[in-house]
Amino acid sequence: MLEAIGVSSLDELMDQAVPANIRLEKPLRLQDGLTERKYYRRIHDLAKMNKVFNTYIGMGYYDTITPAVILRNVLENPVWYTSYTPYQAEISQGRLEALLNFQTMVCELTAMELANASLLDEATAAAEAMVMMHNGRSRAKAKAGANVVLIDENIWPQTLDVLQTRATPLNIELKVGPVHDFVFDDKVIGLMVQYPNSNGEVLSYAHLVEQAHAVEAIVAVATDLLSLALLTPPGEWGADVVFGSSQRFGVPMGYGGPHAAFFTARDEYKRIMPGRIIGVSKDKHGNRALRMALQTREQHIKRERATSNICTAQALLATMAGFYGVYHGPEGIRGIAERVHAIAVLLDEEISALGYRQLNQNYFDTIRFALPKHVKREDIEWLSHELEMNFRYFDNGEVGLSIDETTNLEDINWMIEVFAKAANKRYPTITVYPEKGNIDPAFSRNTPFMQQEVFRKYRSETEMLRYIKRLEHRDISLTHSMIPLGSCTMKLNAATEMLPLSWFEFSSIHPFVPKNQARGYQEMMEELRRDLAEITGFADVSLQPNSGAAGEYAGLMVIREYHISRGEGQRDVVLIPSSAHGTNPASAVMAGMKVVVVPCDERGNVDVEALRQKAEEYQDTLSAFMVTYPSTHGVFEASIVEMCDIIHQNGGQVYMDGANMNAQVGLTNPKRIGADVCHLNLHKTFAIPHGGGGPGVGPIAVAEHLVDFLPSHPVMNNGHVGISAVSAAPWGSASVLPITYGYIKMLGADGLTKATEIAILNANYIASQLKDTYGILYVGENGRVAHEMILECRHLKANSGITEADIAKRLMDYGFHAPTLSFPVHGTLMIEPTESESKQELDRFIEALKAIYEEIQSIIEGKLDKEDNPLKHAPHTSETVTSDDWQHAYTRQQAAFPLSWLKENKYWPPVGRVDDAYGDRNLMCTCDPVESYK
Ligand SMILES: Cc1ncc(COP(=O)(O)O)c(C=O)c1O
Repeated sequence: MLEAIGVSSLDELMDQAVPANIRLEKPLRLQDGLTERKYYRRIHDLAKMNKVFNTYIGMGYYDTITPAVILRNVLENPVWYTSYTPYQAEISQGRLEALLNFQTMVCELTAMELANASLLDEATAAAEAMVMMHNGRSRAKAKAGANVVLIDENIWPQTLDVLQTRATPLNIELKVGPVHDFVFDDKVIGLMVQYPNSNGEVLSYAHLVEQAHAVEAIVAVATDLLSLALLTPPGEWGADVVFGSSQRFGVPMGYGGPHAAFFTARDEYKRIMPGRIIGVSKDKHGNRALRMALQTREQHIKRERATSNICTAQALLATMAGFYGVYHGPEGIRGIAERVHAIAVLLDEEISALGYRQLNQNYFDTIRFALPKHVKREDIEWLSHELEMNFRYFDNGEVGLSIDETTNLEDINWMIEVFAKAANKRYPTITVYPEKGNIDPAFSRNTPFMQQEVFRKYRSETEMLRYIKRLEHRDISLTHSMIPLGSCTMKLNAATEMLPLSWFEFSSIHPFVPKNQARGYQEMMEELRRDLAEITGFADVSLQPNSGAAGEYAGLMVIREYHISRGEGQRDVVLIPSSAHGTNPASAVMAGMKVVVVPCDERGNVDVEALRQKAEEYQDTLSAFMVTYPSTHGVFEASIVEMCDIIHQNGGQVYMDGANMNAQVGLTNPKRIGADVCHLNLHKTFAIPHGGGGPGVGPIAVAEHLVDFLPSHPVMNNGHVGISAVSAAPWGSASVLPITYGYIKMLGADGLTKATEIAILNANYIASQLKDTYGILYVGENGRVAHEMILECRHLKANSGITEADIAKRLMDYGFHAPTLSFPVHGTLMIEPTESESKQELDRFIEALKAIYEEIQSIIEGKLDKEDNPLKHAPHTSETVTSDDWQHAYTRQQAAFPLSWLKENKYWPPVGRVDDAYGDRNLMCTCDPVESYK
């Protein structure tokens, strides 16, 4: 490979690719890499330090049973966890169907019209709803400066904290109080309530909805999906937006995440709704085909006009929750809800009989007790800990219990025992499961849900297994071939890194348990923070943000707070290069900042003089410069240090987008280049799999002067005391952190650096093989690319009519996922091979691209028809290729087996090219309606 590139050693290549003035002088100070076996012992020892108690804290997190068929065949299955966000619909039909099931289930349970395929967590979903209220204001309201959102004080504390974080920079005024005190005047743009509320109480809000609608305010309701099997769904009493967490649908608590938040809205809000929506359309043959609906609707694509920065969401967890619904079906879900509720009712009766006063009049799963005078809360606490149980302790001395689907007879008896012993009373033994509910008819659900065929057909393990397998066969993932997506770093997610994920000691821990029950987690996270600080060169790390874009937002809020602390709160301008990812300007706007775009020169580099001029122009108001390094154009810009200096000289801070950290680790770091804060995409550089569009983890690392501003948490002390929370959970998506921990521990300092070098080698090897055909758009000063490159396709379009999208679709016939399409430069493809790919796989990919290039040449030379050619008709399904009616001007062989190795390992795209426009015109975002089966 070095020979093909034209260098004699890896060191020589690094010297050519990475500017000398930013190279690290010393190796990373990390431990040597552990063997897989040694690491397995280490992580096992950490797991044993976590104590798994039965936890009845509730507060948005509940123990749940992941059906083993889903655990083994989805969570532990690389086809599901290594696939990418389904932008290329034709090779993503399996996960698109799984996500459509999720949306359908959510719409059915909430009785709403439109659901997305997940947000990051319940608290950020609430913030998205709040921002929607702001953006959904009528013109008159906007003109009058209406900005008040009324918030039920009985909403989860973590939700309230995140709402406060997000409201402040946008000048949204939150009025938090008891719902009966709310005054609906013209200033009010929204109402947010929780149902059941944070005390577990089920209340009627119908009168408030009426009052809110009378002043044109949007009503958003936080809810618990499981409760809606029994309670009147918010869609039936007038809610405009309904959101919450789907965690208890089979997704382990995992010390706080990742879990999929759901978000639904009435149809009229579809254009301002955040997140990805899966929709039904058809392919070019007229067959049903799924794809992400409203193509331009990922809000960040609108850059500084965006209303949300959501990019990576929680696809894998939404997939799991959707499958949980499919497996249990409506009767199963209702059965689980009834059992949970009946246990709460029984405990209400039994514990009340011991002299405690149960305070919730109407409830689903949560009961709340005032203690008799002679009972001490501390006694309840230690007695429950003796029996390895956690209860919820309210600030006012009340004690709460939230029941979940794992609660069994033994647990019921233990709970009663604790309350009885604390009150010095005798207690009965319960021997049969309760069946009795007490939901007031005024709150009872009377409408059926989940009547679609998919929720009836796969209710045995055999059927479920085959359904999951059938869907997975429709998708391309890393188990099939390399996924060369630039800026996405689709690297190996090693099996040893993944194993601990399903261990009980990591998965069954509630995020709000006393820290001494999570010592394994705490020690692992402490080490991970230290290691990430060393890798970035920074002083400290917050693990809270749960996606790259969430990290961007958190980092900018930290910068904002830093300026305010110095009496420079007027600093609100962010300079962003035109080549930046859409989430950068979107996050800046969410942080209340004004975006000023800096142009790039003809070589794709940030125009340094323009940057200087803008920095000086905004000297008094400059807050930050957001820069991706190496650039999104795949080049190590030599002037990066100068750029950072310019910003600092003008009073600004440098935010580095860490999406391209895979080209830095061990060779340089954000601190060395002169940045002050960066986010890391652990789901790119640090081996967390992409899960078909999430989970992601986007920790931020900061220099010493910003440490005091890192995000805190309202319920748990997470070690930071700065801005209020940016995510629901204190440590974000803790349960996937062992993946990154394992990646760092097993590679060690040398391995991590070598990985970076090989990533750069692989990219330069591909560039050397394709530069004379397609051409590489941008290279660095010495003619080298970084860890990715932009493949020029525009001249081909001009000469043949073949677009970059045609090339992307044709690659599917060759068994490959397309590179990144038209980002950051329209009409091009961006390739990132990562260090994980062998030369043999790189050569297969290069051969496929060269063969496609030859096909394009045949069109240019007139040997293939301009319209009827394998590129325009790609991808080819088995149905079309084996049809008796083959009408094309090229052969079937050419269509499906253009290279000989395809005969050994052929992936058949399940649908032909998907018609996006049809789907957008006929928006349908749930499974076929029940009537279609009749
Ligand atoms: C350069 C860059 N920045 C930021 C992001 C946003 O990261 P996330 O999708 O985790 O929110 C991406 C995602 O693809 C990216 O490529």
